Amino acid sequence: MALVTTKEMFSKAYNGGYAVGAFNVDNIDIMQGVLNAAVKTQSPIIIAVSGGALKYMHPAYVRYAALAASEECDIPIALHLDHGKSVELCKQCVDNGFTSVMIDASAYDFETNIAMTREVVEYAHKRGVVVEGELGAIAGIEDDVVVDDKYGSFTHPDDAVEFVHRTGIDSLAIAIGTAHGAYKFKPGQKPQLRFDILEEISAKLPEFPIVLHGASSVPKDRLDTFNSYGGQMPEAIGIPEDMLRKAASMSVCKINVGSDIRICYFGELRKMFALKPTKFEGREFLEPARAAVEEMVTDKIVNIMGSAHKA
Ligand code: 13P
Repeated sequence: MALVTTKEMFSKAYNGGYAVGAFNVDNIDIMQGVLNAAVKTQSPIIIAVSGGALKYMHPAYVRYAALAASEECDIPIALHLDHGKSVELCKQCVDNGFTSVMIDASAYDFETNIAMTREVVEYAHKRGVVVEGELGAIAGIEDDVVVDDKYGSFTHPDDAVEFVHRTGIDSLAIAIGTAHGAYKFKPGQKPQLRFDILEEISAKLPEFPIVLHGASSVPKDRLDTFNSYGGQMPEAIGIPEDMLRKAASMSVCKINVGSDIRICYFGELRKMFALKPTKFEGREFLEPARAAVEEMVTDKIVNIMGSAHKA
């Protein structure tokens, strides 16, 4: 199957009450682990590549690896730029075989965000590529947010409507309390997401696909493996899985997972290095790490996204 945009994926997900997982990949191994899970579960899948990962892997290798995947795997696969920080980077990815790009100009003021996003949309749509925009601050734990109204730094529903209409984007990443990284809440803090804001946004933007960033759940078994073999992330806390399932059943059509992939992959590598000190054949370490990614992504597809058998 050829690489596809997320257009049809999202419309099916919206109507079917599930989400499609966007998994961050940093190398071909991780990409294969994610794809194996999607094939096994017959799920649509979004391969997410950040600007940093693109530089590390090299654009041509990313493009041909994704094309190889589309030849090998009989499921819908979208190749997506995650957090494109400049218009130029987004255009480069549009020209380089990506089927979806995210322009993240959320750090700029509202009008600049609109202008940059609009420019990417005009370029991408002419070339058959879809665009995700972002509005609101998807925080890190260290941000001490001063909340001056009900919405604080979360996405304001009225702004979301104006942003979507003026930019022409295909999906919107919103801030409702998720955060990037593995430390989303302070120890002892009760995890919560602002489903009331999500509901308000969805009511004002019917049928429109919403994206949830910062949606790693930091699974306990994976974190335990990581920490048992020399890792030091004792206080990592993710989004509870039941909250992600709820979001997927609502208007959230894309759920982004990056940190969990890294905890899983590098936790398994740590374990293999510790358990096989006399080995130096790469595959002795890499195959179990890839298999661990496959296993964890399978679990997410089945138990969080709800996208199994939706290919
Ligand atoms: P996590 O850090 O929660 O995995 O979020 C990843 C993400 O949103 C990438 O855009």
